[in-house]
Amino acid sequence: GQALNTLKTKAEEKVETLTNNLDNSGVQKNIYGDLTRPAEPIELGARHPISIVKNQIIDVFSRIGFTISEGPEIEDDWHNFSARNFPPEHPARDMQDTFFVEKEVALRTHTSSVQVRLMEAGELPIRSIMPGRVYRNEAISARSNCFFHQVEGLYIDKGVSFSDLKQTLYNFVQEFFGANTKVRFRASYFPFTEPSAEMDIYLGTETESDYRLTKGTGWLEILGCGMVDPNVLENCKIDPKEYSGFAFGLGVDRIAMLKYGVKDLRTFFNSDKRFLDQFVNL
Ligand code: PHE
Repeated sequence: GQALNTLKTKAEEKVETLTNNLDNSGVQKNIYGDLTRPAEPIELGARHPISIVKNQIIDVFSRIGFTISEGPEIEDDWHNFSARNFPPEHPARDMQDTFFVEKEVALRTHTSSVQVRLMEAGELPIRSIMPGRVYRNEAISARSNCFFHQVEGLYIDKGVSFSDLKQTLYNFVQEFFGANTKVRFRASYFPFTEPSAEMDIYLGTETESDYRLTKGTGWLEILGCGMVDPNVLENCKIDPKEYSGFAFGLGVDRIAMLKYGVKDLRTFFNSDKRFLDQFVNL
């Protein structure tokens, strides 16, 4: 109470001094208008839905001990491709159409490049997630854009196995989508993981939007994952005989669309205030 009173007195004194200064300044008073009128209401902004979802994903992994790592969006060939086991001229590079800034320098096509930087830094074990924006030269449509957001994860230690990978990702799905969410793993291919898999969650086909989103199967792919290929470990000066690890990559935009029932990806990025205002209280 006392502190507040002191504050009030000080504020009153300050207002009085300023008013006096103004009165004596010789400046015409009316250019300031009515100094006692209420201030214009300040409109509060909101976090962007992509950031909300990104932060929620980060939360789930932080709770089980993952740190956060970041890296540059303009990357060299080594960190984005070569160290990730994409040989030169290998057709696998076509998987991710790339925006080149100059020869061997491009906008990163995945945050896997941050994994390489982290492994090269050489502090083991590694248990980290890499949120960030990535770029691909793709036709823009309701379901794809020339940039999007990923959270990739990397866990490297002695004796890490595929069951650790599965358990970590089950944990994510249960925390994020609810304890009863069904998942399935499908065998897949990435140059930098072996074996590789994609994980789907089950949405069912009851509502029209679930039916469409899952193309009638009920299943929606939400991430790619796998055991880090020994070549990638070697490229980053980690001995694959001693260490093993898993990696995964989640698409944030896709998950945000799912979570908020957004039907067109482009809505996230056209800065329409009427859309963004809906997230003010989240
Ligand atoms: N980098 C892959 C992509 O962008 C995702 C991924 C990360 C897959 C890690 C497996 C392991 O599509």
